[in-house]
Amino acid sequence: MKIVKTVSEIREIIKEWRKAGYSIGLVPTMGYLHAGHGSLIKQSVKNNDKTVVSVFVNPTQFGPNEDLEKYPRDIKRDSELVQSLGGDIIFNPEPEEMYKKNNATTVKVEVLSQKLCGVTRPIHFAGVCQVVSKLFNIVTPDNAYFGLKDFQQYVIINKMVEDLNFPVKINPCAIVREESGLALSSRNVYLTDEERKSALSLNQSLRYAKSLISSGEKRASFIIDEITKIINNVPYSKIDYVKIVDIDTLDDIDTVENRYAVLLAVYIGKTRLIDNFAELS
Ligand code: PAF
Repeated sequence: MKIVKTVSEIREIIKEWRKAGYSIGLVPTMGYLHAGHGSLIKQSVKNNDKTVVSVFVNPTQFGPNEDLEKYPRDIKRDSELVQSLGGDIIFNPEPEEMYKKNNATTVKVEVLSQKLCGVTRPIHFAGVCQVVSKLFNIVTPDNAYFGLKDFQQYVIINKMVEDLNFPVKINPCAIVREESGLALSSRNVYLTDEERKSALSLNQSLRYAKSLISSGEKRASFIIDEITKIINNVPYSKIDYVKIVDIDTLDDIDTVENRYAVLLAVYIGKTRLIDNFAELS
């Protein structure tokens, strides 16, 4: 396993891999890898001859008051994990390598990027699409792997790939949870022990919503009210949004039938957490 810092070096390696006829999987990450990333890497290693894991805390997807500076980083631990799972390369460029001073090109998926997390994070998805399209052009993967915890990101990347004809297959991967039910996130490290207890209300409320839907409840407003009550009942919580949406348009729906997602964004103390469950068929 090799850590590569420059675009020119990774392009050379990819050229050789292509000559040898290898298929290539890409797992884009911002590092501080956990078992959720691990599951993406495992799928890529299983389904491709070569796997590149990008580790890059992308500055263009952070708003001015967000956690860019304090976002956790540990490249040594990340490389141990990637190595142990059979990944071939970590692409870990510096920001100056990815963005030249006179960078002028942005990639924006309209409408979808303004909804849900886009309301409080107006530049976030343009930054994500910018860096992901650069990574697709640099690594030219056959397959790319994205976790469904970032459900809106997954929908937006799919739309970008369709609209811009990127020759890559997007593979969604299930949310990985702690035994407690908390969805794994690099940002969980910010939570105090007490906040961590409150954070369990996200998954608890989603599980309750799922049980309501399984027993025939279809009214989105009723389900949203029940989720809201559970989360508001724990200390340190402040809801950003609770939504039930159509999975293609991300528009609110009134009646829960098929192809829907129940999506949450909640501040626990100062930490903003997201979680969801989605019915994709
Ligand atoms: O999901 C993430 O970690 C990031 O948004 C991504 C896709 C690696 C782009 O920086």
